[in-house]
Amino acid sequence: MKALIASGGKGTRLRPLTHTQNKHLIPIANKPILHYAIEAAVDAGIKQIGIIHTADSCEVPDAIGNGKRWGVKITYIPQKTPAGLAHVVKIAEKFIGKDNFIFYLGDNMVVGGVKRFIDEFEKSDCNCWLTLSKVKDPERFGVPVIKNNKIVKVEEKPSKPKSQFAVAGIYIYDSHIFEAVKNIKPSERGELEISDAHTYLIEKGFKVGYSEITGWWKDTGKPADLLEANRLILDNIEPNFKGEVDKVSSVLGKVILDEGSKVINSVVRGPAIIGKNAIIENSYIGPFTSIGDRTTIRNAEVEYSIVLRDCKISNVKLRIEGSILGNDVEIVDAVGKPLVHRFMIGDQSRVEVA
Ligand code: G1P
Repeated sequence: MKALIASGGKGTRLRPLTHTQNKHLIPIANKPILHYAIEAAVDAGIKQIGIIHTADSCEVPDAIGNGKRWGVKITYIPQKTPAGLAHVVKIAEKFIGKDNFIFYLGDNMVVGGVKRFIDEFEKSDCNCWLTLSKVKDPERFGVPVIKNNKIVKVEEKPSKPKSQFAVAGIYIYDSHIFEAVKNIKPSERGELEISDAHTYLIEKGFKVGYSEITGWWKDTGKPADLLEANRLILDNIEPNFKGEVDKVSSVLGKVILDEGSKVINSVVRGPAIIGKNAIIENSYIGPFTSIGDRTTIRNAEVEYSIVLRDCKISNVKLRIEGSILGNDVEIVDAVGKPLVHRFMIGDQSRVEVA
């Protein structure tokens, strides 16, 4: 069993964060999203991982490396044009060879790992194994048409979904998938759709089975999804205090204080993570908050938020909540007269003021 992980795509719904970084490298609980996909494969005992990345950028290979730190071999496969997920599979044929493989969309997060799905696929005589998750908005996803407990078709982003399920971005295949991806035609949006490859397999009589993901699964495509993924990961952390807390501060609940971090005259209410050399002073950090390395927070309150590295938040009167701050962002008090809101904000940013 090999793993193929997709890390392409523009991440337009996560702008402006994705103007400067690949969406798969955005940290959730201070760890890039892509690490969770790699770790899921590693935990399932997989030793060879292929990562598809956009050919015009080495950002992913540079950030992830050769896999040594996880004890696996990572092979990078560049994709020249964003021609769809079935195209991603097509260009990985040489890497996969005749092996079975799990195809994992690097922006998907699932609790409980993927080994259970691989085990079910291996116990079955199926050629393809899909994972389904009940969602409120199936029209955003690939949607299975299910009859008598069998998937008879998969429709990509249908305006009238025929079930409540999304096909999650965790698929397991034998090498027949290559026949499918070579024989389907591009969709109206000009992409080779993975859903069409699944429908091809069904129509040609190959066996397509599925598991329902009963726990938590997320496609981290939108800002609210990132916050929700952050909440869930933080809910499951092991507390660890490597930083310093002064006598007048209180750190409650599950909290990770990374090396060199300082909590001074403040309250940190977990679950939360405070990155390396971050400083929290005269402040409140509420549940489900990730604070990146070297970020300083003074005279401010932050809750249910993701604040990346090297940010500076100081003297903010109203609590910051449900917010995502990129790297090197400053939210500071206005100086001088007149007393005004003064913004210096990049393209496609969003600020809500009270
Ligand atoms: C892709 C697939 C879709 C699947 C989804 C899961 O959609 O095309 O079938 O349900 O991933 O995350 P995208 O995220 O590219 O819109």
